[in-house]
Amino acid sequence: MSVGKDVVTYLAENEWLNENAKRWGTKIGARAITAGTTLTELIPVIQKLNYAGVRTSIVYLGDGLYEKAGALEVKEQYIQLIHLIQEKALDATITLQLTQLGLDIDFEFCYENVKEIVAEAYAYDVQVTIEMEDYGHVQPSFRMLEQLKEAYDNVGTVIQAYFYRAEEDIKKYKDVPIRLVKGAYDEPISVAYQTKEEIHDNYKKLLLEQLQNGIFTSIATHDRDIIEEVKRFVQEQEIPFDAFEFQLLYGFDEELQEQLVGEGYPCSVYVPYGEEWYSYFMNRLAERPQNITKKVFNKKTN
Ligand code: FDA
Repeated sequence: MSVGKDVVTYLAENEWLNENAKRWGTKIGARAITAGTTLTELIPVIQKLNYAGVRTSIVYLGDGLYEKAGALEVKEQYIQLIHLIQEKALDATITLQLTQLGLDIDFEFCYENVKEIVAEAYAYDVQVTIEMEDYGHVQPSFRMLEQLKEAYDNVGTVIQAYFYRAEEDIKKYKDVPIRLVKGAYDEPISVAYQTKEEIHDNYKKLLLEQLQNGIFTSIATHDRDIIEEVKRFVQEQEIPFDAFEFQLLYGFDEELQEQLVGEGYPCSVYVPYGEEWYSYFMNRLAERPQNITKKVFNKKTN
């Protein structure tokens, strides 16, 4: 089955569909790649992953993009989540998307929200990752990271290897944990590598340099070529296993997840939950349709 990327991206961005998806629940198969819409649905998913030897990083898919009230709800959800992580002794970190916490509304308003979450997470010994979105949001996100890391050491970020600037950024932020990804947004040639080969090569180059620097690195890719190369590299260079983890998207490649855990590698899964699941689901569908179609049509999920 093939699905046109442009069509799926259009569906992901369609406001009416996004709004109505909240009423459908996660019935159209999104349950295979998200952990439901509520904390009650999320917790057993995390417990099951932890039981299988997998760490987690949880992201709340909430709607704080354009209104302060929505951003404040997202903040409250994260505070509750942090308390639950401790109460249930979950092996979990949290991931924040700054646009959901008000980045497009007002930088200072967003900063106050993020700071409150990071401070609470710090008090409860929970690690926080600031996610990176499209190019226009990258600089303000790094600015926020810089302000946060002055006061807290439980915060790290994402570097997107498709950006030319990634090499400088990864050097600049060598004092915080890094999640290295290829990059998921359509970006112009003026700022980003365009071909799969260029992105793959830059990812590998940055990753191998980063692993030698001893900074904790989440290797966030499903690319088996890169994963196999890392396995060889960490053995050769005697990189300690507490300096990195492989990180996968929830529900995408359980076979790989089981294989990594079976081989004794540290493995983490990025677990999204929340009412705004629809555009996440459609964007992942646009990226690699076979991941989703295989899940939705071959497996009973609800
Ligand atoms: P890619 O899609 O490039 O595929 C490469 C090869 O890997 C394929 O040809 C295939 O051989 C193999 N492969 C991939 N998926 C497979 C599967 N499911 N089963 C079997 N083989 C498979 N992006 C961003 O811009 N900002 C962010 O903050 C984040 N955050 C993030 C967190 C985590 C934990 C992950 C894993 C990813 C992100 N991303 C992201 C998304 C990221 O930028 C990228 O778009 C996707 O991970 C897809 O790239 P990959 O390297 O995983 O494989």
